[in-house]
Amino acid sequence: MNRRQFLASASVFALLPQQTLAERERIVLRAEAVTAQVLPEGDGATDMLGFNGSMPGPAIRVAQGQRISINVENRLDEGTAVHWHGIRLENRMDGVPVLTQDLINPNDAKTYSFVPPDAGTYWYHSHYISHEQVARGMIGPLIVEEETPPDVDHDITAILADWRMEENGRLTEEFTDMHSVAHAGYMGNFARAFLSQPSVRTGDRIRLRLINTATNRIFPLTLNGAEGMVVALDGMPLAQPRTLEKVVLAPAQRADLIVDVIGPLSLDMPTRQGPYRLADIEINGTNTERQESQIQPLTPHGLPTPAEPTQHLTLTMMGGAMGGRHGGDNIWAFNDTSDLQPEPFGSFERGETVRMTMVNDTSFPHGIHLHGHHFYEVADDGSLGDLRDTTLVDAGESRDIICVFDNPGRWMLHCHMLSHAVGGMRTWVNVA
Ligand code: C2O
Ligand code: CU
Repeated sequence: MNRRQFLASASVFALLPQQTLAERERIVLRAEAVTAQVLPEGDGATDMLGFNGSMPGPAIRVAQGQRISINVENRLDEGTAVHWHGIRLENRMDGVPVLTQDLINPNDAKTYSFVPPDAGTYWYHSHYISHEQVARGMIGPLIVEEETPPDVDHDITAILADWRMEENGRLTEEFTDMHSVAHAGYMGNFARAFLSQPSVRTGDRIRLRLINTATNRIFPLTLNGAEGMVVALDGMPLAQPRTLEKVVLAPAQRADLIVDVIGPLSLDMPTRQGPYRLADIEINGTNTERQESQIQPLTPHGLPTPAEPTQHLTLTMMGGAMGGRHGGDNIWAFNDTSDLQPEPFGSFERGETVRMTMVNDTSFPHGIHLHGHHFYEVADDGSLGDLRDTTLVDAGESRDIICVFDNPGRWMLHCHMLSHAVGGMRTWVNVA
């Protein structure tokens, strides 16, 4: 089989585990080997890794501002650690081996406890050999609920990912093949969205939380059968909802949509060969009760307002197939330096506003993720744009960001194309 060709897409429903872990319980996440139906029902099941018997792992839902404690038990035969992507939490709960914690060894456990300050759509994933453990399935949704949620009939989560599969459902073990690492990264030949709910009614207003958990794939997305707006990106409400045409999500990025259902619903990824179906949502009846009304913005979060930047750093992405090596096996680098060095890329005082110019001097796009903070993308006119935790910088482009580093600790800054991260495109900053 030619792996560059997509396996046929599946116009079936792949459901997220129905088990939801709420904050009132003592939450246990068991990292373990699981069997998952990734290919369409009837095709082979896939041996993967996951949590509590499922892949994706169960949804964790917590109220904004409420402490949550999650005991991660490692039942794998290798170490692991879990990162709560996008949550502005205490550094020692960030889940990054070496930088913020020791590895959780097999048969060991660790309790993560934090207070999520911002409502929105987040996710959790392994942060140890993550190019492999995430590709094997160590992912799950993490939803922080608003005190007053928007007025919708359904709140639906969609976990997007892709995998390199054989036709019998076997996951191929090519997580670090050098050609992929030096190019766009490990890409699957089968992609899909797992949904938390199989059906809606025509006339329903739904919130759709899209989470790109793929290791390397950028998902362009179109939603058919609905009309509506994008109301949040990376968990952060937009000041004004934005019209929904095409949504593009780099690895780890999220978008919250609020849409009205007008017909059969489906989520597609446009490709050169035409649309590739990621998920269908069945229509089951009609909602005649809902009154027409405008989609309202979500309540913005109280992030600190940037001051005049006191430092302006340049982070240049380098390397790849065309870019040479940066010492050892490293193929990718920031500013000629690969991997976590003893010295941080930047040192900031708590509360300092910093401007960073991210220059993509490579032939591939990169989605750069900063831990523990959200930052503003600087818009073309110089104004503060969207708040994000992961920013997509196209090949040959650059992007300025402005960040108030108000969260003390050691924070990773890395490409979330996980093949690039393992290939060296990762560093860290220190906030004292
Ligand atoms: Cu989503 Cu460093 O992680
Ligand atoms: Cu990259």
